[in-house]
Amino acid sequence: MRLGMIWAEARGGAIGRGGDMPWHLPEDLAHFKQVTLGAPVIMGRRTWESLPARFRPLPGRENVVITRDAAYAAAGATVRSSLETAIGEFETKGVDTAWIMGGGELYRAAMPLADELVVTRIGLDVDAADTFSPPIGPEWRLADAGPELVSRTGLGYAFERWVRA
Ligand SMILES: NC(=O)c1ccc[n+]([C@@H]2O[C@H](COP(=O)([O-])OP(=O)(O)OC[C@H]3O[C@@H](n4cnc5c(N)ncnc54)[C@H](OP(=O)(O)O)[C@@H]3O)[C@@H](O)[C@H]2O)c1
Repeated sequence: MRLGMIWAEARGGAIGRGGDMPWHLPEDLAHFKQVTLGAPVIMGRRTWESLPARFRPLPGRENVVITRDAAYAAAGATVRSSLETAIGEFETKGVDTAWIMGGGELYRAAMPLADELVVTRIGLDVDAADTFSPPIGPEWRLADAGPELVSRTGLGYAFERWVRA
């Protein structure tokens, strides 16, 4: 199975603040949907809770929530106690691709297991960010830097794709 990770980051690697994403970038939401639709998405418990109740589970994708709380219930989602358990089950089922969709803690845990990173790089300075993307080390190669785009909101951004070097 191919394991991808997908996130959006502002300058300095900021991905979250106060349990939310500190920007509005509709083109990124559309891109996220296009990339992940039809594949399972795996997220940390705090990212699940950051989704407004009316938007979860994300449609057209099996939603998997990772938590160490054995009693945790997430309506409409699969709950697992470890990333390795979730990935092992998908491999057994013959799933082709699954996506890690955050947040910061889960990205860090999944980084050594991932085959591909899809990163939206946003030209924005975020004050008081509290969650950051995992460092992308020399074991990764930028396969596609993507064109420089401008959102209808005025924000500059690009879609990058990284693969193992
Ligand atoms: N910019 C982006 O692309 C993007 C994407 C997603 C999220 N975000 C932002 O990121 C922030 C949330 O990230 P976060 O780092 O605070 O939390 P998170 O990674 O979403 O969730 C953390 C929780 O998930 C569980 N967990 C994580 N790793 C685990 C592991 N290896 N094994 C078992 N359980 C594990 C634990 O749950 P328990 O405490 O229940 O045990 C942990 O407290 C929010 O601000 C959100 O908006 C940004």
